[in-house]
Amino acid sequence: MTIIAEKISRDVLCHITLPLDKVVHLNVSIKERRKQAIVAMVDRARHCLNGGINIASIELAKDELMKLCEQRELFPREDFPVPSDGRYELFFHVYEDLVQEYSLYVYSALPGQSYRPHNHGNSWAIVAAIEGMEIHSLYRQTGYSSTPEWVSDISVKPGTAVSLLPGGIHAIQSAGDCPLLHLHFYGKSFEIQGERTEFDVKTGQAYHLTLDENDLSYIIDIRH
Ligand SMILES: [Fe+2]
Repeated sequence: MTIIAEKISRDVLCHITLPLDKVVHLNVSIKERRKQAIVAMVDRARHCLNGGINIASIELAKDELMKLCEQRELFPREDFPVPSDGRYELFFHVYEDLVQEYSLYVYSALPGQSYRPHNHGNSWAIVAAIEGMEIHSLYRQTGYSSTPEWVSDISVKPGTAVSLLPGGIHAIQSAGDCPLLHLHFYGKSFEIQGERTEFDVKTGQAYHLTLDENDLSYIIDIRH
């Protein structure tokens, strides 16, 4: 009886002396904590965007995504490895809400990847960094299929992010030697973003396509 009493006493003492967050985390996996943090971020972002998608509201949503990036321990590299099959990039689909309005991917890529100017169809987009840096070149389009005009470059690295309104155009070029671990947050998942436009700025050619017609094997669905 005494032994049991002492054991209970030690257990109680343990719970009293540990910080509350440590006690809560003892029995919760990284995956579950990540899931909770993502749902909380999406709820806050939805609150920001509920009144309409505009520069001011998407900037607020961007801040929420950046806060999630600060929880680095929730995105260990072993859960989101870089490709090892000759590809440059993988998108781990980690969240989509019930009405397919908010979709989050963890982007894991090797240095050296790039993507020509493109929009994301009828979806807004926010990209924020956990590790690694890439340059996002922002463009302005003056006609349906005309060659877009370069506007500015933004370095997306830990502590910074970029946002695009629906129809916004960006090109991506990785920078530095560090593999990328970024969060990509969209109003719709890739498959339902509708017709996107990509541009070859050298030839002036515009290409209209939907991603659901393409090879999407670079996306790994780990939502469940
Ligand atoms: Fe993009």
